[in-house]
Amino acid sequence: MDQNQLKKAVAEAAAQFVRERLHDKMVLGVGTGSTANLFIECLAPFKDQILCTVASSEETQRRLRLLGLEVRDLNSVDEVSIYVDGADEANESLHLIKGGGGALTREKIIAAVAREFVCIADESKYVPTLGKFPLPVEVIPMARSHVARAIVTLGGDPVYREGFVTDNGNHILDIHNMEIRDPVGLETQLNQITGVVTNGLFAVRPADLLILGTSEGIRNYKI
Ligand code: 5RP
Repeated sequence: MDQNQLKKAVAEAAAQFVRERLHDKMVLGVGTGSTANLFIECLAPFKDQILCTVASSEETQRRLRLLGLEVRDLNSVDEVSIYVDGADEANESLHLIKGGGGALTREKIIAAVAREFVCIADESKYVPTLGKFPLPVEVIPMARSHVARAIVTLGGDPVYREGFVTDNGNHILDIHNMEIRDPVGLETQLNQITGVVTNGLFAVRPADLLILGTSEGIRNYKI
């Protein structure tokens, strides 16, 4: 199976996971990216049984509405039952790097609210140590240089994602060449730099379940 087929397989498995847990107050959080887009397509057969969704990006909101699903503002729901999203990297503790698509802040907010956070990914994303994928950091535009200098003192090489503006009107710095040995510590440290909105480490709130697509079939990892 190629990477896209593995993404399709995990999208279907996550849709089945949601289907088995349907209840009349189901609020579904939906992530951003190519794997999340495949998951959205898998919702079609039971979309009428989902009370509403919350979206981690404008693009995901557009896709959900196109399918006929109701999308609500996170402030107008009491809870998020399940949040399903992809990742750029995942380790055995279900710590993640996310934000390759630039939606990390809204993704992290929905993950924080969700009762269950399900990550879907193909096997290329499963790594022993996080950090080969450049770690995205969302910054307030006027703080970009200040944050970049602070990242250098932490040992990383920040690269400005030129021409990209997040859905929140901010900029992204991608940190290269940083082997992440302490994901919880680094996530916390980066978030303390003035001007950082958030960073793409999901370790303080890791996934609850990782559905990984491998050439030998689907593997489920839980912590
Ligand atoms: C977007 C993300 C995505 O989940 C991540 O980039 C994975 O994307 P894809 O499913 O296209 O490989 O965090 O901000």
